[in-house]
Amino acid sequence: MIEFTKVSMAYGDNLIIKDMDLHIKKGELVVLIGPSGCGKTTSLQLMNRLIEPKSGTIEINNKDIHELNVTDLRRQIGYVIQEIGLFPHMTIRQNIEIVPKLLKWPKDKSLERTKELMNMVGLDPKEYLDRYPAKMSGGQQQRIGFLRALAADPPIILLDEPFGALDPMTRDLLQDELKKLQKDLNKTMVFVTHDMDEAIKIADRIVIMNEGKIVQYDTPEQILLNPANEFVEKFIGKHRLNNGHVNMVKEIMRSNPISVSLDSGLAKAISQMQSKRISTLLIVDENNRYVGTVGIESLIDKVKAGMLVSDLEVESTVSVHEESSAKDAFELLVKDKMDILVVTNDDQHVVGIVTKTSMVTSLANVVWSDDS
Ligand SMILES: Nc1ncnc2c1ncn2[C@@H]1O[C@H](COP(=O)(O)OP(=O)(O)OP(=O)(O)O)[C@@H](O)[C@H]1O
Ligand SMILES: [Mg+2]
Repeated sequence: MIEFTKVSMAYGDNLIIKDMDLHIKKGELVVLIGPSGCGKTTSLQLMNRLIEPKSGTIEINNKDIHELNVTDLRRQIGYVIQEIGLFPHMTIRQNIEIVPKLLKWPKDKSLERTKELMNMVGLDPKEYLDRYPAKMSGGQQQRIGFLRALAADPPIILLDEPFGALDPMTRDLLQDELKKLQKDLNKTMVFVTHDMDEAIKIADRIVIMNEGKIVQYDTPEQILLNPANEFVEKFIGKHRLNNGHVNMVKEIMRSNPISVSLDSGLAKAISQMQSKRISTLLIVDENNRYVGTVGIESLIDKVKAGMLVSDLEVESTVSVHEESSAKDAFELLVKDKMDILVVTNDDQHVVGIVTKTSMVTSLANVVWSDDS
């Protein structure tokens, strides 16, 4: 559908796009992501000939776009520019109908289309058609910017950080809407963002760019599993999956759990634990070494004044070393139906606990490691 072959582009001596090859299939949602200034906006502008390459060819539907009339080209391409760009002196209706008007659509056809689009994203035409952008929320304005790009029903839509300035909830909502519309309407979309969460969520394929070059172009899953190099790894940051790498217990445990020593008063220890909603006493000796656990529920009625922790029958529950495998720890937790697993270091000091909650939190990683 869109094909870049050895495309370069420069502002003066400044080479902005370097020898770029890129193929985008029909009906695909491709996200361009990379640091500020790496050439994302420039790449979009090359697609609709807002700027011209220095060398190389760009084809759309197997036709060199430089052999097309610019108006014909742009008729096929909707463009949502960075920072929305609604015209403040025009109503919502006028904003949406810019391209249909250029294309000289009859008025009633335009209006019908506008209403249809607004309904599609949950904006009541009766209420909003004749409003001015300033009287709409940020999210509503972003929707209008998007509808404007859809108005003349182009097969290709370019979106330059369309949800940039939105709060996370609205953004999330619009991402869902966009993805659904893209599938339902079978549009080809090129979407620029800075936000890896957004890219992973909506993209069929992601182009990771740096300094005018494509560093990696692949599905979100492949990028997460097999980042091409250190730059990509850094870029995907917290999303990185542990491909083949086995998590250690210390990476997933809750650190600094409360422990009590054998010579502490029992009543006080229990009340502390209760107030922190902890149901197991972690017991250590005078040198802070792990001794065992006692479940507090069973004790509450039996505590008498002056009792010490050392008066209890301490269970010597299993502990695991902080550098042992998290997966093994989970298996132990599940198999032995334990509430918690105590984690110790080389000195036998308690450094953390693993609970079933830590298990859920880390489940994704463990599952990934299993698959690979
Ligand atoms: N009109 C221009 N004249 C000269 N240089 C330009 C012009 N427009 C962009 N540049 C330069 O081209 C490079 C790429 O810009 P581009 O807008 O494509 O970056 P971007 O990846 O979209 O960045 P951002 O994430 O900040 O929007 C930048 O170094 C920018 O300074
Ligand atoms: Mg940009």
